[in-house]
Amino acid sequence: MEYHITASQLRQKYFDFFTQRGHCLIASAPIVPDNDPTALFISAGMQPLVPYIMGQPHPAGRRLVNVQKCFRTSDIDQVGNTTHLTFFEMLGNWSLGAYFKREMIPWSWEFLTGEEGLALDPRRLYVTVFAGDDQVEKDRESVDLWRKQFAQAGIGATEGERIFPLGRADNWWGPVGRTGPCGPDTEMFFDAGGVSCGPDCRPGCSCGKYVEIWNDVFMEYEKKADGTWGRLVQRTVDTGMGLARVLTMLNGLDSVYDIDTLRPLVDQIGRMSGRTCERHARSFRIVADHANAACHLAADGVEPTNIERGYVLRRLIRRAVVHARRLGIEQSIWAPLFERVRAGGDEVYPELESRAGQILDALQGEEEQFERTLKEGLKRFEQVARRSKETIEGERAFDLFATYGFPLEMTQELAQERGLAVDTKAFQRAFARHQELSRRSAGQQFAGGLADRSSAATHYHTATHLLHAALRRVLGRHVEQRGSHITEERLRFDFAHPRPLKAGEIEQVESLVNAAIERDFAVCSAEMALEQARESGALGLFGDRYGESVQVYAIGELAHAPQGDPQGPTFSKEICGGPHVERTGLLGRFRIVREQSASRGVRRIRAVLEA
Ligand code: ALA
Repeated sequence: MEYHITASQLRQKYFDFFTQRGHCLIASAPIVPDNDPTALFISAGMQPLVPYIMGQPHPAGRRLVNVQKCFRTSDIDQVGNTTHLTFFEMLGNWSLGAYFKREMIPWSWEFLTGEEGLALDPRRLYVTVFAGDDQVEKDRESVDLWRKQFAQAGIGATEGERIFPLGRADNWWGPVGRTGPCGPDTEMFFDAGGVSCGPDCRPGCSCGKYVEIWNDVFMEYEKKADGTWGRLVQRTVDTGMGLARVLTMLNGLDSVYDIDTLRPLVDQIGRMSGRTCERHARSFRIVADHANAACHLAADGVEPTNIERGYVLRRLIRRAVVHARRLGIEQSIWAPLFERVRAGGDEVYPELESRAGQILDALQGEEEQFERTLKEGLKRFEQVARRSKETIEGERAFDLFATYGFPLEMTQELAQERGLAVDTKAFQRAFARHQELSRRSAGQQFAGGLADRSSAATHYHTATHLLHAALRRVLGRHVEQRGSHITEERLRFDFAHPRPLKAGEIEQVESLVNAAIERDFAVCSAEMALEQARESGALGLFGDRYGESVQVYAIGELAHAPQGDPQGPTFSKEICGGPHVERTGLLGRFRIVREQSASRGVRRIRAVLEA
């Protein structure tokens, strides 16, 4: 296919335009957030830059430009049409207190319409701006700046004709989490030439006539944990241009899967299957999107597991494999598809090159593991589907999960294609029951007066150490254990802290504990002198009750001080008699169910481990 402009050329144009205007080109941050336990993945270009938007100095200066890898599963069910992707690249430029609307809007115009940029016909450009509400006033400055640009090109630009003031749902950005920087934005649209869908069709309408190509966010507010708004310490600009969408438009393509980075995947799927994308569009696109996303997630170190990020990757891989098999592809899809992903991005994402071995190992390993049961599982699914009237029972869906490795979402998708639903509540109940049974049978091995050493209690014991370390990281080092009680069903942990935990703090603690579980730290222990134990950073909780020599349990490595950091070498270290699990990956999912006062200055947390 002949391209008017390729991904590589568009990235370069964008970088050149902004570096010529004093911006420093920075690398994409990994798709797995650093130091942000509240988010599973980076889903917008500004997310890794939040600390700098909030005022921390960036080592590369106040004007930055980059392309950022992003991943979202919110629209995963739509993947298969001509527009939706889970993995996407965002071009962006940032002002960290360096410039604001007066510079950014003219630059946007210049990049969109100038020869140095995209050379779009200005008569086909439309913009939206924030209309204002009872909290923040209308963005009149942006209206005036746009009007001036249009006027210079001889185009009258009245409101409601070229410039559309819209409300918060359309023209307000952020914050990404519950708190953080946010502000009004102005979005730029290109009239792709289609027919309008009716008298109310305007930029922002979803019919496809107006393609959103760029978003300039003027961040000057901060949303706080208590719901109030403050001013940011500096006025910042955050812009986002979706690479794939703009390439589709600039090349006049009907589908985002035809751009030069994705088309080779589609073609390769065609060669492997001997079928055409025209006839099997949905499966082709699901395989192409999921393979692309899976390669990038694996490049940033995600491994397929049963929780959080790892579970998302597992779902992507297994769903891609199922659709590949349906297309008649019997061989492994990963080596040839990874080659295409690498070719499309290695100049900007060097980890595709440097981690090639690990990426293929992770993807092929998961495929092989799934392969062993896939055929049997599909047969079983067919039987189940035939016997089900409207709904597949939760027990059956659970059986497909436990015996054949079918993620619930996959069973749902297969069911949906046959007009069936899945009883997900009953699935969850079956899941919980199964957990309980496996706990009991493990517990029986320790029967005979050692009930508190049952497997479930041991899990909770290790979880208590993780919780303690996470609380100290989130709330501070004043947190000290004041009591602990463990049953086979839950843990209870009392600790010194002067006030109730905020919702955000509880979430952070949960995320840290879950990240430590996911990291699958080894748990190890050693005997040492009490003094040495304290010096090595181990928490010793019961004053002088210990003798000379104590046992120290480390979650992670024994040699380092504990940091409560899932990325660090040692998450927790405590003087303790055990027992503990061997690896944190055994614990399942940690959830805080209650946080309350235990006594003055002491808080109490109850938490559970779930499947
Ligand atoms: N943060 C803005 C977006 O992602 C630019 O659309």
